[in-house]
Amino acid sequence: MNIGLLGFGVVGGGILELTQGRGDITVSRVLLRSPKPGLPEGLATYDFNDILCDERIDTVVEVMGGLHPAYEYVTAAMERGKNVVTANKALIAAYYRELTGLAKEKGVALRCTAAVGGGIPWLVNLARIKRLDTVCAVGGIMNGTTNFIMDAMHRAPVDFPAILKEAQALGYAEADPSADIDGDDIRRKLCISANIAFDAVLDETAIPTFGIRTVTAADIAAFKSHGFVCRLLAAAEAAENGVCAYVEPTLVAASELEAAVPANYNLISCTAEGVGRQSFFGQGAGRFPTAGNVVQDCLTILAGNKSFYTDKAVPAALDGSAEAHPYYVRTAAPDDFLRSVTADTWGSGIVTAACNSYEMLAWAKRQLAADPACFIAGIR
Ligand code: HSE
Repeated sequence: MNIGLLGFGVVGGGILELTQGRGDITVSRVLLRSPKPGLPEGLATYDFNDILCDERIDTVVEVMGGLHPAYEYVTAAMERGKNVVTANKALIAAYYRELTGLAKEKGVALRCTAAVGGGIPWLVNLARIKRLDTVCAVGGIMNGTTNFIMDAMHRAPVDFPAILKEAQALGYAEADPSADIDGDDIRRKLCISANIAFDAVLDETAIPTFGIRTVTAADIAAFKSHGFVCRLLAAAEAAENGVCAYVEPTLVAASELEAAVPANYNLISCTAEGVGRQSFFGQGAGRFPTAGNVVQDCLTILAGNKSFYTDKAVPAALDGSAEAHPYYVRTAAPDDFLRSVTADTWGSGIVTAACNSYEMLAWAKRQLAADPACFIAGIR
């Protein structure tokens, strides 16, 4: 296999290192935006056409990130009969239907195992479960940065801005941490997982999402005193009229698996009718975990498997009508709705009776305009 590698950051460098010295996979060209040290002579190019028009290159590996020009590059590669392997969750979530359709039409492979769960072989196992069983639900901890923050806040009383700074210093959180802490990153991973689990195409941007930006040390103290641990969780399950998918901070009992997930690890679960729950734990990011899953995808293609994780992609609606549970809500501006559902008081927050999740997440989004410090968490 001859690879045209798009991007040479942390993951791209790991891919080059893992493939060097192998007889079966060779990185033949690397597309760069600007000169970078550490590349063997003759590999670098600044023109994508050098990869596209190189007939030796049968597989394009995209780790440059972003939607554009990544989308144009991978579609051009597939049009030309090249396989595509990508770790780019934003690209797959936004263009799921187009990319899976084009791969099918052109008879090329499209794989994205590293896009969800970094180094965890989650998507391949989800596809494996589906061969024999019916998936009822998928979800869990799919973002390492936010888990690092939540875990640290439970270990010692520390405020969110301080621990976010530490996460940035350790290289977990980006300089602009919004995609992680506001839930966009985990929402994209949930969307890809749900699409594969339920043969669906969901509108990623419509999945109700609340992040952890406004959580405080006092919130965590209240959760701990009631025996709960807070994690940013993604959830998707089959619903009567589509798929019920959402992302929210969630309070789980201290005895639950999610409560024990340390630092920046991920824990992704699938519940299927026959096999019940299976959970996959590991590093959701990082140079060698992520590069390892990319190279594994290349090896799968090399072994002759050109199929995507599912061969169906049918546009599906989001249906949250049947999902309800209690919530913890802290806001300085309670309104009539909140007063009407209040069942208990925890510190400076309240606990509601069971509320419809889609209505609660829509309320919370509106509430942030009235009270930008408002925080909510579902209670499982
Ligand atoms: N920012 C992501 C995380 C990286 O923290 O999990 C992997 O997608």
